[in-house]
Amino acid sequence: MSRPFERVETEHLKAEKGDYEHFMLKEIFEQPKIAKAVFQGRVDFTNLALNSAAFQDLRDVEIDRVKFIACGTSYHAGWAGTYAFRELAGMPATAEIASEFLNAPVRIDTKTLYVFVSQSGETADAIEPLKFIKAHGGKTFGIVNVVGSSISRLTDFGLFTRAGTEVGVASTKAFTAQLATVTLLALFYSIKRGEDFRKYRSTLEELSKLPDTMNKALAMNDGLAQVAEVFGKYPHIFFLGRGHMLPIAAEAALKFKEITYIHAHAMPLGELKHGTLALIDENCPSVIFLPDDSLYSQNLSSVAEIRARGGKVLAISSKAIGNADWNLVIPEIKGVSFGFAATIVGQLLAYHAAKSLGREIDRPRNLAKSVTVK
Ligand code: M6R
Repeated sequence: MSRPFERVETEHLKAEKGDYEHFMLKEIFEQPKIAKAVFQGRVDFTNLALNSAAFQDLRDVEIDRVKFIACGTSYHAGWAGTYAFRELAGMPATAEIASEFLNAPVRIDTKTLYVFVSQSGETADAIEPLKFIKAHGGKTFGIVNVVGSSISRLTDFGLFTRAGTEVGVASTKAFTAQLATVTLLALFYSIKRGEDFRKYRSTLEELSKLPDTMNKALAMNDGLAQVAEVFGKYPHIFFLGRGHMLPIAAEAALKFKEITYIHAHAMPLGELKHGTLALIDENCPSVIFLPDDSLYSQNLSSVAEIRARGGKVLAISSKAIGNADWNLVIPEIKGVSFGFAATIVGQLLAYHAAKSLGREIDRPRNLAKSVTVK
């Protein structure tokens, strides 16, 4: 299949640290600029229209469900995409860890769009299922950062994430660019399927303000160094949430363990009482993602449940939680924007905890930026 050219007006982001102490911090602070680049030429916010060539390619492709396939941080973006698809496009959507995809018999469905999410586009664990799906007639879509990479070339359709070169092994700006891109794809299907236009419009309105939203989260940088240092002293930490906050909690936990080397475990709040609550005590705190949404009161009950067992709680929320031990409040941020802002707070929390521990932040032990072996 031949694809039309797409001009990418993204600013050249040089792989230099500039005034930042680490690439990771620099890349965290680049996120508002990248949010703009993701939408440039693809979204007409004035006329509420989507314009990318990728969407034109998809116009006549009949699918009725979506499966995201990816690893690590990119898997979390795909997982977040499943919530966007269900919410905006009313479509069944699932996410699968790429390295597990072929570990059981699998039937490729021609009405499924298989979406591969990858920063490098060279992850061997993802390339193998991609080749398998193609060989069995499946339709594939790539959400990839590196132009010309294997996954971008092998997939039938795709959107680049335009995050620029990411040097830090811990993925930050690539993740929020992936989140924005999966949301765009879900918005395309919202229109294609004639779903609720009010949701489509309000999501676009939020996305138009994304750089400002991200700047609000970045403004919390200095204030959260102290609480991050406290978290750098615990051996185990839970990262918890409900609904669309689950992939955000999982990503925050991954960031935390990757650069602090502290055990961070993400799980759904509602699942705690089915066994894990036994681990909660004053030495095992929880970071809870608490947007002001329909799950708010359930989340508050969970905070009380943890506090009643002596567990300490750090709430990342849109308004202060009375019985939390620490509050990181991102003011006035709701809806789809909250996930982006909370992600940045999670990245900064991990960064400052790792810094207080003197870790090698840009090159954590045992890890490679691009995992090209199975
Ligand atoms: O290049 P990819 O996005 O395909 O890489 C997948 C994972 O290896 C990657 O996201 C990894 O989890 C991150 N470096 C974590 O920060």
